[in-house]
Amino acid sequence: MRLKTPPLPLVSNAPDMLLSDEGYSALIPIDQITSEAEAFIPAFTCGTISLDSFLKESALDMHRDYLSRTSLLFHEAFDGLVGYVTLANDSIPLTVVEISHMALNYNCTLPTFPAVKICRLAVNARLQNQQIGRRILDLVTGAIVDSATAARFLITDAIDQPRVVKFYEDYGFTRSIWAADKHGKDRKHKGVATVKMIKDIYGEE
Ligand SMILES: CC(C)(COP(=O)(O)OP(=O)(O)OC[C@H]1O[C@@H](n2cnc3c(N)ncnc32)[C@H](O)[C@@H]1OP(=O)(O)O)[C@@H](O)C(=O)NCCC(=O)NCCS
Repeated sequence: MRLKTPPLPLVSNAPDMLLSDEGYSALIPIDQITSEAEAFIPAFTCGTISLDSFLKESALDMHRDYLSRTSLLFHEAFDGLVGYVTLANDSIPLTVVEISHMALNYNCTLPTFPAVKICRLAVNARLQNQQIGRRILDLVTGAIVDSATAARFLITDAIDQPRVVKFYEDYGFTRSIWAADKHGKDRKHKGVATVKMIKDIYGEE
Protein backbone atom coordinates (compact mmCIF):
# COMPACT_ATOMS: atom_id res chain seq x y z
CA MET A 1 0.00 0.00 0.00
CA ARG A 2 1.27 3.49 -0.84
CA LEU A 3 1.12 6.45 1.49
CA LYS A 4 -1.86 8.72 0.95
CA THR A 5 -1.02 12.06 -0.68
CA PRO A 6 -2.71 15.16 0.79
CA PRO A 7 -5.94 16.22 -0.95
CA LEU A 8 -5.72 19.03 -3.49
CA PRO A 9 -8.14 21.97 -3.53
CA LEU A 10 -11.33 21.00 -5.38
CA VAL A 11 -11.24 23.97 -7.73
CA SER A 12 -8.83 22.45 -10.26
CA ASN A 13 -10.29 20.56 -13.24
CA ALA A 14 -7.15 18.48 -13.67
CA PRO A 15 -7.05 15.22 -11.74
CA ASP A 16 -4.62 15.05 -8.83
CA MET A 17 -3.50 11.61 -10.00
CA LEU A 18 -3.89 9.81 -13.33
CA LEU A 19 -4.80 6.14 -13.09
CA SER A 20 -3.74 3.62 -15.71
CA ASP A 21 -6.40 1.85 -17.76
CA GLU A 22 -5.30 -1.42 -16.25
CA GLY A 23 -5.69 -1.89 -12.53
CA TYR A 24 -9.35 -1.02 -12.01
CA SER A 25 -11.47 -3.41 -9.99
CA ALA A 26 -14.88 -4.57 -11.12
CA LEU A 27 -17.84 -2.81 -9.50
CA ILE A 28 -17.94 -4.41 -6.06
CA PRO A 29 -21.20 -4.49 -4.05
CA ILE A 30 -20.78 -2.49 -0.85
CA ASP A 31 -21.61 -5.49 1.34
CA GLN A 32 -18.81 -7.54 -0.26
CA ILE A 33 -15.79 -5.27 0.15
CA THR A 34 -12.87 -6.13 2.42
CA SER A 35 -12.45 -4.39 5.77
CA GLU A 36 -9.37 -2.65 4.29
CA ALA A 37 -11.53 -1.22 1.47
CA GLU A 38 -14.28 -0.33 3.95
CA ALA A 39 -11.78 1.84 5.80
CA PHE A 40 -11.49 4.05 2.67
CA ILE A 41 -15.15 5.11 2.83
CA PRO A 42 -14.95 7.74 5.62
CA ALA A 43 -12.28 9.70 3.71
CA PHE A 44 -14.18 9.69 0.40
CA THR A 45 -15.30 12.99 -1.04
CA CYS A 46 -16.58 13.83 -4.51
CA GLY A 47 -17.15 17.50 -3.70
CA THR A 48 -20.91 17.15 -3.23
CA ILE A 49 -21.78 16.73 0.44
CA SER A 50 -25.11 14.92 -0.08
CA LEU A 51 -23.41 12.25 -2.22
CA ASP A 52 -20.62 11.77 0.32
CA SER A 53 -23.00 11.51 3.26
CA PHE A 54 -25.32 9.07 1.47
CA LEU A 55 -22.38 6.72 0.98
CA LYS A 56 -21.24 7.01 4.59
CA GLU A 57 -24.62 7.00 6.33
CA SER A 58 -27.26 5.20 4.25
CA ALA A 59 -25.83 3.20 1.35
CA LEU A 60 -25.08 -0.03 3.21
CA ASP A 61 -28.41 -0.15 5.10
CA MET A 62 -30.41 0.49 1.92
CA HIS A 63 -28.31 -2.07 0.03
CA ARG A 64 -28.97 -4.74 2.65
CA ASP A 65 -32.68 -3.98 2.57
CA TYR A 66 -32.78 -4.13 -1.26
CA LEU A 67 -34.00 -0.54 -1.52
CA SER A 68 -31.02 0.42 -3.67
CA ARG A 69 -27.79 -1.34 -4.58
CA THR A 70 -24.47 0.45 -4.18
CA SER A 71 -21.26 -0.72 -5.86
CA LEU A 72 -17.76 0.64 -5.43
CA LEU A 73 -14.81 1.02 -7.80
CA PHE A 74 -11.16 0.73 -6.77
CA HIS A 75 -7.79 0.87 -8.52
CA GLU A 76 -4.69 -1.01 -7.48
CA ALA A 77 -2.51 2.13 -7.61
CA PHE A 78 -4.87 4.29 -5.52
CA ASP A 79 -5.19 3.95 -1.76
CA GLY A 80 -8.77 5.07 -1.53
CA LEU A 81 -12.19 4.69 -3.03
CA VAL A 82 -12.22 5.71 -6.71
CA GLY A 83 -15.99 6.09 -7.06
CA TYR A 84 -19.38 4.59 -6.41
CA VAL A 85 -22.74 4.14 -8.06
CA THR A 86 -26.15 3.42 -6.55
CA LEU A 87 -28.83 1.79 -8.69
CA ALA A 88 -32.48 0.83 -8.34
CA ASN A 89 -35.13 -0.55 -10.63
CA ASP A 90 -37.56 2.00 -11.98
CA SER A 91 -39.83 2.65 -14.94
CA ILE A 92 -40.70 5.72 -16.93
CA PRO A 93 -43.59 6.81 -19.15
CA LEU A 94 -42.58 8.00 -22.62
CA THR A 95 -44.14 10.48 -25.00
CA VAL A 96 -45.21 9.35 -28.48
CA VAL A 97 -42.07 10.99 -29.86
CA GLU A 98 -39.83 9.11 -27.41
CA ILE A 99 -41.52 5.82 -28.28
CA SER A 100 -40.96 6.54 -31.97
CA HIS A 101 -37.21 6.93 -31.27
CA MET A 102 -37.16 3.30 -30.12
CA ALA A 103 -38.11 2.27 -33.69
CA LEU A 104 -40.11 -0.74 -32.55
CA ASN A 105 -41.68 -2.59 -35.47
CA TYR A 106 -44.89 -3.35 -33.59
CA ASN A 107 -47.43 -1.37 -31.58
CA CYS A 108 -46.26 -1.23 -27.97
CA THR A 109 -48.88 -0.15 -25.44
CA LEU A 110 -46.85 -0.32 -22.22
CA PRO A 111 -47.91 2.52 -19.88
CA THR A 112 -44.34 2.73 -18.55
CA PHE A 113 -41.03 1.34 -19.81
CA PRO A 114 -38.59 -0.66 -17.68
CA ALA A 115 -35.52 1.23 -16.55
CA VAL A 116 -32.62 1.21 -14.14
CA LYS A 117 -32.25 4.41 -12.18
CA ILE A 118 -28.83 5.83 -11.39
CA CYS A 119 -29.72 7.11 -7.94
CA ARG A 120 -26.19 8.31 -7.09
CA LEU A 121 -22.95 8.51 -9.05
CA ALA A 122 -19.77 9.99 -7.66
CA VAL A 123 -16.06 9.98 -8.47
CA ASN A 124 -13.35 10.86 -5.95
CA ALA A 125 -12.67 14.61 -6.24
CA ARG A 126 -8.96 13.92 -6.71
CA LEU A 127 -9.63 11.71 -9.73
CA GLN A 128 -12.37 13.51 -11.65
CA ASN A 129 -12.05 14.30 -15.36
CA GLN A 130 -10.26 11.17 -16.47
CA GLN A 131 -13.26 9.24 -17.80
CA ILE A 132 -13.91 7.33 -14.60
CA GLY A 133 -17.54 8.43 -14.52
CA ARG A 134 -17.90 7.16 -18.08
CA ARG A 135 -16.16 3.92 -17.10
CA ILE A 136 -18.64 3.39 -14.26
CA LEU A 137 -21.56 3.92 -16.67
CA ASP A 138 -20.00 1.36 -19.05
CA LEU A 139 -19.78 -1.16 -16.21
CA VAL A 140 -23.39 -0.45 -15.21
CA THR A 141 -24.57 -0.88 -18.81
CA GLY A 142 -22.69 -4.18 -19.11
CA ALA A 143 -24.29 -5.47 -15.93
CA ILE A 144 -27.78 -4.52 -17.15
CA VAL A 145 -27.27 -6.13 -20.55
CA ASP A 146 -26.11 -9.34 -18.84
CA SER A 147 -28.92 -9.34 -16.31
CA ALA A 148 -31.79 -11.83 -16.29
CA THR A 149 -34.40 -9.07 -16.27
CA ALA A 150 -35.27 -6.39 -18.83
CA ALA A 151 -34.40 -2.72 -18.61
CA ARG A 152 -34.53 -0.68 -21.78
CA PHE A 153 -33.55 2.69 -20.29
CA LEU A 154 -30.99 4.18 -17.96
CA ILE A 155 -32.55 7.12 -16.13
CA THR A 156 -31.29 9.65 -13.63
CA ASP A 157 -32.32 12.83 -11.87
CA ALA A 158 -29.18 14.77 -12.71
CA ILE A 159 -28.24 17.77 -10.62
CA ASP A 160 -29.20 20.70 -12.85
CA GLN A 161 -25.70 22.05 -13.35
CA PRO A 162 -24.24 22.47 -16.87
CA ARG A 163 -21.22 20.22 -16.26
CA VAL A 164 -23.29 17.42 -14.79
CA VAL A 165 -25.91 17.60 -17.55
CA LYS A 166 -23.11 17.68 -20.15
CA PHE A 167 -21.49 14.62 -18.57
CA TYR A 168 -24.71 12.64 -19.10
CA GLU A 169 -25.36 14.11 -22.55
CA ASP A 170 -21.86 13.11 -23.65
CA TYR A 171 -22.78 9.56 -22.68
CA GLY A 172 -25.92 9.65 -24.83
CA PHE A 173 -28.53 10.73 -22.28
CA THR A 174 -31.20 13.21 -23.33
CA ARG A 175 -33.63 15.21 -21.24
CA SER A 176 -36.81 13.24 -20.69
CA ILE A 177 -39.53 14.91 -22.80
CA TRP A 178 -42.19 13.23 -20.69
CA ALA A 179 -40.74 14.65 -17.44
CA ALA A 180 -40.25 18.12 -18.95
CA ASP A 181 -43.90 18.11 -20.12
CA LYS A 182 -45.09 16.95 -16.71
CA HIS A 183 -42.90 18.97 -14.35
CA GLY A 184 -41.78 21.90 -16.47
CA LYS A 185 -38.48 23.43 -15.48
CA ASP A 186 -39.11 23.53 -11.72
CA ARG A 187 -38.22 19.98 -10.84
CA LYS A 188 -36.59 19.67 -7.43
CA HIS A 189 -35.40 16.77 -5.32
CA LYS A 190 -34.87 17.60 -1.63
CA GLY A 191 -34.48 21.26 -2.52
CA VAL A 192 -31.93 20.59 -5.28
CA ALA A 193 -32.92 21.42 -8.87
CA THR A 194 -32.70 18.28 -10.99
CA VAL A 195 -33.32 17.32 -14.57
CA LYS A 196 -34.62 13.88 -15.47
CA MET A 197 -32.45 12.36 -18.17
CA ILE A 198 -32.85 9.08 -20.04
CA LYS A 199 -30.76 6.88 -22.29
CA ASP A 200 -32.06 4.09 -24.47
CA ILE A 201 -29.54 1.34 -23.65
CA TYR A 202 -30.23 -0.38 -26.96
CA GLY A 203 -30.83 2.76 -29.05
CA GLU A 204 -28.85 3.94 -32.05
CA GLU A 205 -25.85 6.12 -31.05
C1 LIG B 1 -20.10 14.03 -12.46
C2 LIG B 1 -19.02 12.93 -12.25
C3 LIG B 1 -19.68 11.63 -11.77
C4 LIG B 1 -18.33 12.68 -13.60
O1 LIG B 1 -17.28 11.75 -13.42
P1 LIG B 1 -15.82 12.08 -14.02
O2 LIG B 1 -15.01 10.85 -13.92
O3 LIG B 1 -15.29 13.31 -13.38
O4 LIG B 1 -16.22 12.43 -15.53
P2 LIG B 1 -15.55 12.01 -16.92
O5 LIG B 1 -14.06 12.23 -16.83
O6 LIG B 1 -16.02 10.67 -17.34
O7 LIG B 1 -16.20 13.12 -17.85
C5 LIG B 1 -15.80 14.47 -17.72
C6 LIG B 1 -17.05 15.34 -17.61
O8 LIG B 1 -17.68 15.15 -16.35
C7 LIG B 1 -18.22 16.40 -15.87
N1 LIG B 1 -17.54 16.75 -14.61
C8 LIG B 1 -16.25 16.57 -14.30
N2 LIG B 1 -15.99 17.01 -13.06
C9 LIG B 1 -17.15 17.46 -12.57
C10 LIG B 1 -17.53 18.02 -11.33
N3 LIG B 1 -16.67 18.25 -10.34
N4 LIG B 1 -18.81 18.34 -11.13
C11 LIG B 1 -19.71 18.12 -12.10
N5 LIG B 1 -19.42 17.59 -13.32
C12 LIG B 1 -18.14 17.28 -13.54
C13 LIG B 1 -17.96 17.41 -16.96
O9 LIG B 1 -19.06 17.39 -17.88
C14 LIG B 1 -16.74 16.82 -17.64
O10 LIG B 1 -16.63 17.27 -18.99
P3 LIG B 1 -15.75 18.64 -19.25
O11 LIG B 1 -14.40 18.36 -18.72
O12 LIG B 1 -15.79 18.76 -20.75
O13 LIG B 1 -16.43 19.73 -18.52
C15 LIG B 1 -17.95 13.39 -11.22
O14 LIG B 1 -17.29 14.52 -11.73
C16 LIG B 1 -18.49 13.69 -9.86
O15 LIG B 1 -18.53 12.81 -9.01
N6 LIG B 1 -18.86 14.97 -9.62
C17 LIG B 1 -19.34 15.40 -8.33
C18 LIG B 1 -20.63 14.72 -7.95
C19 LIG B 1 -21.73 14.89 -9.01
O16 LIG B 1 -21.99 16.01 -9.45
N7 LIG B 1 -22.32 13.75 -9.38
C20 LIG B 1 -23.41 13.71 -10.35
C21 LIG B 1 -24.68 13.56 -9.60
S1 LIG B 1 -26.08 13.68 -10.69
